[in-house]
Amino acid sequence: MSEIFYRRAQKGDAESIASVLQDIFDAGKRKAPVTAEFVLGHYIAHPDSVRCTVAVEHIGQILGFQSLRYAAEDNPYDVAVGWGIIGTHIRPTAARRGIGRGLFAQTLNAARDFGLTSIDATIGADNEDGLAYYDAMGFRTYRRLDAGVSKAYTLLV
Ligand SMILES: CC(C)(COP(=O)(O)OP(=O)(O)OC[C@H]1O[C@@H](n2cnc3c(N)ncnc32)[C@H](O)[C@@H]1OP(=O)(O)O)[C@@H](O)C(=O)NCCC(=O)NCCS
Repeated sequence: MSEIFYRRAQKGDAESIASVLQDIFDAGKRKAPVTAEFVLGHYIAHPDSVRCTVAVEHIGQILGFQSLRYAAEDNPYDVAVGWGIIGTHIRPTAARRGIGRGLFAQTLNAARDFGLTSIDATIGADNEDGLAYYDAMGFRTYRRLDAGVSKAYTLLV
């Protein structure tokens, strides 16, 4: 198994991150593909971004990423203001190698540094992989939506 390292996402990663999402779409695990412009605006350079971390293989390919945003007043997810909002995406060919776990360790450090006390993960109710992953990371269900489940992670202060 090749070595993985973690670093902050940079603007130049937008194409590679979009290809992660494309692979997930091609595997039937995502409803819509996205462009590099979307990735830049939604994850890497979003004004409420706390941290966007990429997992990189030694040869330089991005295998996955995790986004942590601050829930501002007008956040479109109806998450309580002041919480964090997390999203995680791993290439299907790199799943179950501990990359999601590795990314969350990085994100937790960023959340603590920022002073967050709770993080929301909202997942499709039929997304068994996502639900199991966030359960394993210590998130617990606090709300059910029409097609989704919201889980919360509480940071110790
Ligand atoms: C869900 C997802 C993020 C998991 O990432 P990953 O890198 O495969 O996760 P890890 O290998 O770090 O797994 C950590 C733990 O989560 C749990 N887990 C992860 N995927 C799982 C699955 N498919 N089934 C059951 N448990 C799972 C396990 O407890 C696992 O620990 P273990 O391998 O020691 O048993 C990844 O499959 C993914 O990106 N899916 C598509 C996008 C998505 O649905 N994102 C989540 C909603 S935003």
